[in-house]
Amino acid sequence: MYSAQPHVAAEARAQKVLTRTSVVRVRARHLLPGRVRGSGRNRCLRTTNPSSVASKCTCSSVAEVRRLGSGQRQSSGPGDGRPSDSWQPVSVASSSGEVPSTGDLQAAADRLAGQVRRTPVLEVRGSEFGVAGRIILKLEHTQHTGSFKPRGALNALLTREIPPAGVVAASGGNHGAAVAWAAARLGVPATIFVPATSPPTKAARIASYGGQVHVIDGYYDEAVVAAGTYAAHRDVTSVHAYDEPAVVAGQGTLGLELREQVPDASAVLVTVGGGGLVAGVTLACRDGGPSVVPIEPTSCPTLAAALRAGGPVEVEVGGIAADSTGARRAGRIGLQVLREAGIGVRSVTDDAIVKAQRVLWERCRIAAEPGGAVACAGLLTGAFRPHPGDTVVVVVCGANTANLP
Ligand SMILES: Cc1ncc(COP(=O)(O)O)c(C=O)c1O
Repeated sequence: MYSAQPHVAAEARAQKVLTRTSVVRVRARHLLPGRVRGSGRNRCLRTTNPSSVASKCTCSSVAEVRRLGSGQRQSSGPGDGRPSDSWQPVSVASSSGEVPSTGDLQAAADRLAGQVRRTPVLEVRGSEFGVAGRIILKLEHTQHTGSFKPRGALNALLTREIPPAGVVAASGGNHGAAVAWAAARLGVPATIFVPATSPPTKAARIASYGGQVHVIDGYYDEAVVAAGTYAAHRDVTSVHAYDEPAVVAGQGTLGLELREQVPDASAVLVTVGGGGLVAGVTLACRDGGPSVVPIEPTSCPTLAAALRAGGPVEVEVGGIAADSTGARRAGRIGLQVLREAGIGVRSVTDDAIVKAQRVLWERCRIAAEPGGAVACAGLLTGAFRPHPGDTVVVVVCGANTANLP
């Protein structure tokens, strides 16, 4: 079992873990008939011992997925293959729905001090971006692994017992890299399920931290089902990408940090996928902090749909940023936090995201991935319009891309 602080022996074990990288392709088309998209091509990046994973992998039949206890996938009707509204991902989605307290965020900050980077901020004149006011970019893409995700992942791992079989997570890529990174620091194995729709660079990044990668046909939710099936048969710890208290509290440390760095900020623009990051930042910005402006792609309208419906509902996702914002259902924690704070969401098109990537690169030499540029797209398109005299923070939250437009 893991005990509280990483130490030298753990680092040594981490080195061993890092030498055992592997990527294994798992076909999931037969697992979720009617829901799974994707090419079906096999893609094995690297594996030292595929059989050791493939033989253990249990995500092999619809019957098996349906057998798995309460709160799990149920068929919505013959031949449809789509989940009903009552469907919840299987056990890997371990959210208690509990909103972290201010004390939880502070405890996360103390726990993570010296473990994650205090990422820098960069001031640009609004006129450089064609807007009014003072713009501060929070360069969270310079965090370990290239996104904000290690904050939540490491906080989650540091607050629970980890069995020898290690941790499992489903991820569009960045959460998986963060879990693999955190697990390597603690000297425990990590098994990560990613959708085939995520770029191979992200799978390679997970493998580079020693994570064992299973590539699943479809989008993030298909990876969630496969990870849940895997976890249901093993003594492993699951870390949800956005809907568990320790993850939200960890992401909230970004908000605490930017309040110290930019005490006069009037607003902070945050990319939304499942809602873990925006929930954490909103909690950190209560009591006199800047107002929080969630921005999501129109091609992944997860939060907009949930706010309209009054609860998480399943939406179609796709588009350029789906590997980071492609959760089909909003997290319960994020939704509750935003509803209590009376905060709505604004949307940007894929074209606007591409333009924001270009502007960040051309003007600042920042290589943001599409998800990392969504908040900036909200500024550039006028989805959020600063007034002269405003100080607006834009969180650049990810840079795991091999291609800039
Ligand atoms: C770069 C980037 N931005 C934003 C998000 C969305 O985060 P959340 O699901 O916590 O809303 C993700 C999630 O993977 C991401 O990788």
